[in-house]
Amino acid sequence: MLKPIGIFDSGVGGTSIWRELNKLLPNEHSIYLADSKNAPYGTKSKEEIVKLCIKNTELLLKADCKLIVVACNTATTNAIDYLRENYNVPFIGIEPAIKPAALQTKTKNVGVLATKGTLSSSLFHNTSKLFTEGITIIEQEGTGLVELIETGKVNSEKTKELLRKYISPMLQKNIDCLVLGCTHYPYLVPLLQDFLPSDVHIIDSGEAVARQTQAVLIQNEIQAKVKGTVQHFFYSNSNVEVLQNLVNGDNVTVAYKDF
Ligand code: DGL
Repeated sequence: MLKPIGIFDSGVGGTSIWRELNKLLPNEHSIYLADSKNAPYGTKSKEEIVKLCIKNTELLLKADCKLIVVACNTATTNAIDYLRENYNVPFIGIEPAIKPAALQTKTKNVGVLATKGTLSSSLFHNTSKLFTEGITIIEQEGTGLVELIETGKVNSEKTKELLRKYISPMLQKNIDCLVLGCTHYPYLVPLLQDFLPSDVHIIDSGEAVARQTQAVLIQNEIQAKVKGTVQHFFYSNSNVEVLQNLVNGDNVTVAYKDF
């Protein structure tokens, strides 16, 4: 097997990023770690998040990964600087897509739904400040949403209730862009579309992360050049079934792993 791309998240949410990666880079093998046992990361301290990211990174490096995608906004905004300083592989991170939203909004009001850990990070604040002059950002913590997705309850009444509670105040403030600042949230898009007015755009960072990964692979001359059968390994330290339901398909292996 050629060297794989390593991907990790606090749980199953980063599979939304894996899907974009796989679409753009179909010749790349991958190994995905769902650290569901420790989800959510978003309520943990920066120190705890960094520690968990070190654990995930070292496991992926042991598996000979050539590049690591931190498929989690909370992990990126709290730990990517540490990871880049301490490990010798390229890291791709993900942050809430504030810049594209700022360029697109006409009402000059943008909603950001993300975890507490992301919204309180200095990386988020710095990016936010940089691109949002003259634009009002309405931040909302998505408390409880990651736990519902982790337990396979995407379509539950509780999920609908929480989304209404979180999004209604943003609509009252006339947002026309809703940034999904957590890689779990793309799984909520069908529910969101049910009650968002059609002129509110939902923006996530999945495609941009895939494009950035492609650029870094090329820049480092480590992209897979051979067309062949690829393999994708997914490991969860909890909830294997939930993970399985999100990524089943050819060349996909899902298994439990204690890490
Ligand atoms: N997927 C993670 C993110 O993008 C979820 C964070 C959490 O575990 O709280 O932020």
